[in-house]
Amino acid sequence: MASGDLEVEYKKLVKEISECRQCELYKYRKNPVPGEGPLNTPIMLIGEAPGKQEDETGRPFVGAAGKLLTKLLEEAGIGRKNVYITNVLKCRPPSNRDPKPEEVEACSPYLRQQIKLIKPKMIVCLGRHSAKLIFSWAGIPWTNMKRQHGQVYEGVIEGLKVKIVATYHPAAALYNPQLRKELEEDFLKVIGPLAKQILEGKIETTKRTTLLDFLRGKG
Ligand code: URA
Repeated sequence: MASGDLEVEYKKLVKEISECRQCELYKYRKNPVPGEGPLNTPIMLIGEAPGKQEDETGRPFVGAAGKLLTKLLEEAGIGRKNVYITNVLKCRPPSNRDPKPEEVEACSPYLRQQIKLIKPKMIVCLGRHSAKLIFSWAGIPWTNMKRQHGQVYEGVIEGLKVKIVATYHPAAALYNPQLRKELEEDFLKVIGPLAKQILEGKIETTKRTTLLDFLRGKG
């Protein structure tokens, strides 16, 4: 898609999200939080849902967890400005409660459309809600974060081959030194090196898997 068309399609999506009433969360939101970052990046990070400061500003990961995420990205040599950041839910659940299954289902088409437009080569799932959803879309079994964090998986989502890494949610690591250590290690040892390779174009470009590719064994 030409970059002009991509921006037009993206703006349409943002407008749809801002007018969304598919679940009851629209009643409580100050601002929807669609996501932010360059549309031509190969790296997408997916969190859970906006919190208080995100709801007030309309931007993802700007509160305490966001500050930690920004630090992790910088220290891993990726840089926040080089990645697209979004959430499973685009509106804040009251009192930051867990997303309800019906809210995840109602909001999922927006995340799918973001993946279709941005075509990431790598998705980083921040927290179990994001991991559970993305792994299910990619057809990869999901058990729990303790077992599966910091491992690189490969799957196909929306016809795109994508590398997927799950790690702990930065908010969970804020007051838990052991989780924080594991989260930092995931960023330094796995997410950073892989993202850098992808950003530097050292890993094969993402393409849509066509039926012909599949039949030729290139799927
Ligand atoms: N937690 C999330 O999952 N997302 C945000 O944007 C902020 C906090």
